[in-house]
Amino acid sequence: SLFKKTSKTIGFLIPDITNPFFPQLVRAVEDVMYPAGYTTILFNSDENLNHEIEYIEGMTSKYIDGFIIASNTLHWEHLHLLNVPVIALDRHIDSRISSVVIDNYTGAVEALEFMFSRGCKNIAHLEGPNYIYTAQERKKAYLNVMKEKNLPVLLQQGNYELEQAMIKTMHLLSEHPNIDGLFAGNDVMAIGALKAAHKLGIQVPKQLSIMGFDGIEWGETVTPELTTMQQPIYEMGRKAAELLLARIHEQDLEVEHHILPVNIKKRNSVK
Ligand code: RIB
Repeated sequence: SLFKKTSKTIGFLIPDITNPFFPQLVRAVEDVMYPAGYTTILFNSDENLNHEIEYIEGMTSKYIDGFIIASNTLHWEHLHLLNVPVIALDRHIDSRISSVVIDNYTGAVEALEFMFSRGCKNIAHLEGPNYIYTAQERKKAYLNVMKEKNLPVLLQQGNYELEQAMIKTMHLLSEHPNIDGLFAGNDVMAIGALKAAHKLGIQVPKQLSIMGFDGIEWGETVTPELTTMQQPIYEMGRKAAELLLARIHEQDLEVEHHILPVNIKKRNSVK
């Protein structure tokens, strides 16, 4: 028909509701959507592709007018069936889908350069899940920086979660007592690493510098306060919501890709 029914509802898919990075994004998205008269429905996938596909399949244009997606396990093939505008947030999905992301590679290089400038010599990397784009980029940066400096690589696999990061860091530090810097793939893992250092009686930052990535609010509540690569979390959510609204109002707008800047938040966990 000539009249497109609208639901005045959008969907927002996040991969991990327990990680404060994502609620901060949700807050920003709602701050744009609510005044525009839209309800935001939240979907949490626990980084599980099957859940994501089920959610997507259930959400036709009958129920929602648009979708914001923070996931990169979904592909174009899953999403174009939705038949509503989609914005990829935090994790780039496909060049045909508008996105709001940061430059994870450069952010990680800068984080590492900062650690070296503060005197770290043996830096290990606690990586995020290897199937997630943001984690892959940060790891690639670590590998290249170490290679350029001709330094040994020390990797520990993590999964972007606190508890596991703590356990993994305890192993890492017990096996490699000469590590004087740990670059964590995100803040939640950096906080897990702080806890590990504390349990082992290792002083941060005197004996070990710990650098995070994200800039979630929790970073200020731990001791020592977390030094981190700050993503413009609120700004990212807002931008994604604005792009989506514009595309709901005018369906054939061009695809846009936005890369927002990151900044080092200098606190006390790096010497
Ligand atoms: O902490 C969650 C992580 O997943 C963030 O670093 C974010 O960029 C994402 O991809």
